[in-house]
Amino acid sequence: MTGPASIEAAVADWDGRMTVVARDAPTGAWIVVAVHSTVNGRSAGGCRMRGYPSPAAAVVDGQRLSAAMTRKLALCGVPMGGGKSVLAVPAQPTGAARTGLLRRFGELLESLGGLYSAAVDMNTSPEDMDVIGETTSHVFCRTEAFGGRGTTAPATAVGVYHGVRATLAAVTGSDDPAGRRVAVQGVGAVGADLAERLAADGAEVVVADLDPDRVAALVARLGVRAVPPDRVLGEECDVLAPCAAGGVVGPATVPALRCRAVAGAANNQLETVEDAERLHAAGILWAPDYVINSGGVLHGAGLELLGWSEEQLADRLRGIGTTLTAIFERSAAENRSPLAVAEDLVQERLAARA
Ligand code: NAI
Repeated sequence: MTGPASIEAAVADWDGRMTVVARDAPTGAWIVVAVHSTVNGRSAGGCRMRGYPSPAAAVVDGQRLSAAMTRKLALCGVPMGGGKSVLAVPAQPTGAARTGLLRRFGELLESLGGLYSAAVDMNTSPEDMDVIGETTSHVFCRTEAFGGRGTTAPATAVGVYHGVRATLAAVTGSDDPAGRRVAVQGVGAVGADLAERLAADGAEVVVADLDPDRVAALVARLGVRAVPPDRVLGEECDVLAPCAAGGVVGPATVPALRCRAVAGAANNQLETVEDAERLHAAGILWAPDYVINSGGVLHGAGLELLGWSEEQLADRLRGIGTTLTAIFERSAAENRSPLAVAEDLVQERLAARA
């Protein structure tokens, strides 16, 4: 990971609203809260805990992810701005050291008065959010015992399901998955749920995972077909649904793809933004990841921070499909990639609220 030489440069060079950097002396961690935008409302986003080559690299990572949250929230209809926090730790703290760090992080969030609310992200759990919640109310995705609303994965899967249907409509003329072939890469919490929904609709579902037990369980339960993990990207299908890790679309993979569209849950599917143009040039429709996978934040922020009912959430999850359809239609009309159109939509929505 490359980054600026100093925290000072990272903070000064950013176009976001505010970066707060603090040093947690007892654990040696650096705490970063990056608030990209509050144009759309107070900011929200995940809190990740991991090691970095330097504190400046942690700042840049938080800022990059925070800007991505602004885009995601602007397009999914949550009236909040993008935020992100990073707990850059020398090693994953456990026991009292972890609890202490999380409580002190909560105190920092409390001092920001709600400018940013934290949620689960890489290496943090709903239980961690409960601890943060001991010192601040500006946290969500807690356990149900502490007022949280449970895992976000089912809502993410529902959103991706609506997104896959919208994608099918764009490439086949019908959103009905029956008889369509969908290849799901990664059948964890989201991918397995998506596979089940599509199989129930009569789609021909192909699955792959590094974990053979997960694959075997799905094959036994749904009668879906399994392919080896290193073959799934080249599987001939209507839709390839990346639901494993990021970076699946790049200069090396695009020529090998045999799908009409890519639409899945994984974050950061593109190696670089140029890959969106590469897919467009290859005639493969891409559902921008930050649009199709916004079901998780709709669930967490909508139910916990904004007081939505389950019906309102279901409506917003369906809206993911509607938003994608609008993006695809404009992409076709203007012969521009769906990502380019989505980026325009973000700017239009933020400008309308500024
Ligand atoms: P998970 O950890 O439950 O499942 C991921 C699965 O992918 C695992 O079964 C893993 O073995 C498999 N996998 C990893 N690398 C693979 C590879 N190269 N080939 C095949 N399989 C591979 O994660 P979850 O919650 O299902 O999330 C899936 C993706 O969606 C992740 O990229 C996540 O960041 C993203 N996402 C998840 C959200 C949520 O609410 N859970 C929200 C937004 C995005």
